[in-house]
Amino acid sequence: MKKLYDEAKSILPNSFAKYSNFKVAAALEMNNGEVITGVNVENASFGLTNCAERTALFAAYTKGYRKNDIKQILITTEQDDFISPCGACRQVMRELMPDDALVHMSNNKGEIKTVSNKDLLPFAFTDEDL
Ligand code: THU
Repeated sequence: MKKLYDEAKSILPNSFAKYSNFKVAAALEMNNGEVITGVNVENASFGLTNCAERTALFAAYTKGYRKNDIKQILITTEQDDFISPCGACRQVMRELMPDDALVHMSNNKGEIKTVSNKDLLPFAFTDEDL
Protein backbone atom coordinates (compact mmCIF):
# COMPACT_ATOMS: atom_id res chain seq x y z
CA MET A 1 0.00 0.00 0.00
CA LYS A 2 2.93 2.32 0.69
CA LYS A 3 3.94 2.07 -2.98
CA LEU A 4 0.46 3.11 -4.12
CA TYR A 5 0.37 5.96 -1.61
CA ASP A 6 3.81 7.18 -2.69
CA GLU A 7 2.82 7.08 -6.37
CA ALA A 8 -0.34 9.08 -5.71
CA LYS A 9 1.53 11.55 -3.51
CA SER A 10 4.21 12.05 -6.16
CA ILE A 11 1.72 13.17 -8.84
CA LEU A 12 -0.43 15.28 -6.51
CA PRO A 13 1.41 18.49 -7.61
CA ASN A 14 0.21 17.79 -11.18
CA SER A 15 -3.40 18.26 -10.11
CA PHE A 16 -5.00 21.10 -12.10
CA ALA A 17 -7.18 22.52 -9.34
CA LYS A 18 -7.04 26.24 -10.14
CA TYR A 19 -10.63 26.91 -8.98
CA SER A 20 -11.04 24.78 -5.86
CA ASN A 21 -7.36 24.49 -4.92
CA PHE A 22 -8.37 21.01 -3.73
CA LYS A 23 -5.74 18.72 -5.20
CA VAL A 24 -6.60 15.04 -5.59
CA ALA A 25 -4.53 12.14 -6.92
CA ALA A 26 -5.40 8.50 -7.56
CA ALA A 27 -3.18 5.46 -8.07
CA LEU A 28 -4.81 2.46 -9.70
CA GLU A 29 -3.11 -0.94 -9.45
CA MET A 30 -3.63 -3.65 -12.04
CA ASN A 31 -3.45 -7.37 -11.29
CA ASN A 32 -0.16 -7.47 -13.23
CA GLY A 33 1.36 -4.88 -10.89
CA GLU A 34 1.25 -1.88 -13.22
CA VAL A 35 0.22 1.34 -11.49
CA ILE A 36 -1.66 4.01 -13.46
CA THR A 37 -2.14 7.42 -11.88
CA GLY A 38 -4.56 10.32 -12.36
CA VAL A 39 -5.26 13.78 -10.96
CA ASN A 40 -8.29 16.04 -10.96
CA VAL A 41 -8.41 18.40 -13.95
CA GLU A 42 -10.68 21.40 -13.44
CA ASN A 43 -12.34 23.72 -15.94
CA ALA A 44 -13.80 27.25 -15.88
CA SER A 45 -17.07 25.53 -16.76
CA PHE A 46 -16.98 23.77 -13.39
CA GLY A 47 -19.16 20.81 -14.31
CA LEU A 48 -16.60 19.69 -16.87
CA THR A 49 -14.05 18.95 -14.15
CA ASN A 50 -12.68 15.42 -14.19
CA CYS A 51 -11.94 13.82 -10.83
CA ALA A 52 -8.66 12.00 -10.15
CA GLU A 53 -10.33 8.59 -9.91
CA ARG A 54 -11.94 8.92 -13.33
CA THR A 55 -8.75 10.29 -14.88
CA ALA A 56 -6.84 7.20 -13.69
CA LEU A 57 -9.57 4.78 -14.76
CA PHE A 58 -9.96 6.31 -18.21
CA ALA A 59 -6.17 6.19 -18.67
CA ALA A 60 -6.21 2.48 -17.77
CA TYR A 61 -9.02 1.76 -20.23
CA THR A 62 -7.19 3.80 -22.88
CA LYS A 63 -4.21 1.44 -22.41
CA GLY A 64 -6.54 -1.50 -23.06
CA TYR A 65 -7.10 -2.67 -19.49
CA ARG A 66 -10.59 -3.75 -18.55
CA LYS A 67 -12.59 -4.36 -15.37
CA ASN A 68 -11.10 -7.71 -14.40
CA ASP A 69 -7.54 -6.43 -14.80
CA ILE A 70 -7.99 -3.99 -11.92
CA LYS A 71 -7.00 -4.83 -8.35
CA GLN A 72 -7.38 -1.65 -6.30
CA ILE A 73 -7.31 2.13 -6.23
CA LEU A 74 -5.84 4.54 -3.69
CA ILE A 75 -6.91 8.18 -3.49
CA THR A 76 -5.16 10.98 -1.64
CA THR A 77 -5.18 14.75 -1.10
CA GLU A 78 -3.28 17.39 0.88
CA GLN A 79 -6.05 17.37 3.50
CA ASP A 80 -6.10 16.10 7.10
CA ASP A 81 -9.40 14.34 6.41
CA PHE A 82 -9.76 11.13 4.45
CA ILE A 83 -10.88 11.74 0.86
CA SER A 84 -14.22 10.20 -0.02
CA PRO A 85 -15.00 9.60 -3.72
CA CYS A 86 -17.84 11.70 -5.14
CA GLY A 87 -21.07 10.13 -6.39
CA ALA A 88 -20.11 10.37 -10.06
CA CYS A 89 -16.83 8.54 -9.40
CA ARG A 90 -18.62 5.85 -7.37
CA GLN A 91 -20.91 5.20 -10.32
CA VAL A 92 -18.00 5.05 -12.78
CA MET A 93 -15.86 2.90 -10.45
CA ARG A 94 -18.77 0.50 -10.01
CA GLU A 95 -18.98 -0.11 -13.73
CA LEU A 96 -15.28 -0.03 -14.60
CA MET A 97 -13.80 -1.90 -11.60
CA PRO A 98 -14.71 -5.30 -10.08
CA ASP A 99 -17.26 -5.23 -7.25
CA ASP A 100 -14.68 -6.61 -4.82
CA ALA A 101 -11.84 -4.25 -5.86
CA LEU A 102 -10.53 -2.30 -2.88
CA VAL A 103 -10.88 1.47 -2.62
CA HIS A 104 -8.30 3.01 -0.26
CA MET A 105 -9.13 6.51 0.97
CA SER A 106 -6.13 8.25 2.50
CA ASN A 107 -5.20 11.55 4.12
CA ASN A 108 -2.04 13.70 4.12
CA LYS A 109 -0.44 11.55 6.84
CA GLY A 110 -0.67 8.40 4.79
CA GLU A 111 -3.38 6.91 6.99
CA ILE A 112 -5.81 4.76 5.02
CA LYS A 113 -9.44 3.65 5.27
CA THR A 114 -10.41 0.80 2.97
CA VAL A 115 -13.80 -0.28 1.60
CA SER A 116 -14.83 -2.57 -1.23
CA ASN A 117 -16.05 -0.98 -4.46
CA LYS A 118 -19.55 -2.42 -4.08
CA ASP A 119 -19.92 -1.09 -0.52
CA LEU A 120 -19.31 2.47 -1.76
CA LEU A 121 -22.48 2.51 -3.83
CA PRO A 122 -25.40 0.48 -2.46
CA PHE A 123 -28.39 -0.04 -4.79
CA ALA A 124 -26.22 0.94 -7.75
CA PHE A 125 -27.61 1.43 -11.23
CA THR A 126 -25.70 -1.00 -13.44
CA ASP A 127 -25.76 -2.44 -16.96
CA GLU A 128 -28.07 -5.14 -15.58
CA ASP A 129 -30.74 -2.49 -15.11
CA LEU A 130 -30.75 -1.53 -18.78
N1 THU B 1 -12.44 15.54 -6.59
C1 THU B 1 -11.76 14.46 -7.02
O1 THU B 1 -10.87 14.55 -7.87
N2 THU B 1 -12.09 13.26 -6.48
C2 THU B 1 -13.01 13.08 -5.48
O2 THU B 1 -13.24 11.95 -5.07
C3 THU B 1 -13.71 14.23 -4.92
C4 THU B 1 -13.53 15.51 -5.64
C5 THU B 1 -12.06 16.86 -7.13
C6 THU B 1 -13.05 17.51 -8.05
C7 THU B 1 -12.67 18.96 -7.92
O3 THU B 1 -11.60 19.24 -8.80
C8 THU B 1 -12.14 19.10 -6.49
O4 THU B 1 -11.87 17.77 -6.06
C9 THU B 1 -13.11 19.76 -5.54
O5 THU B 1 -14.35 19.20 -5.61
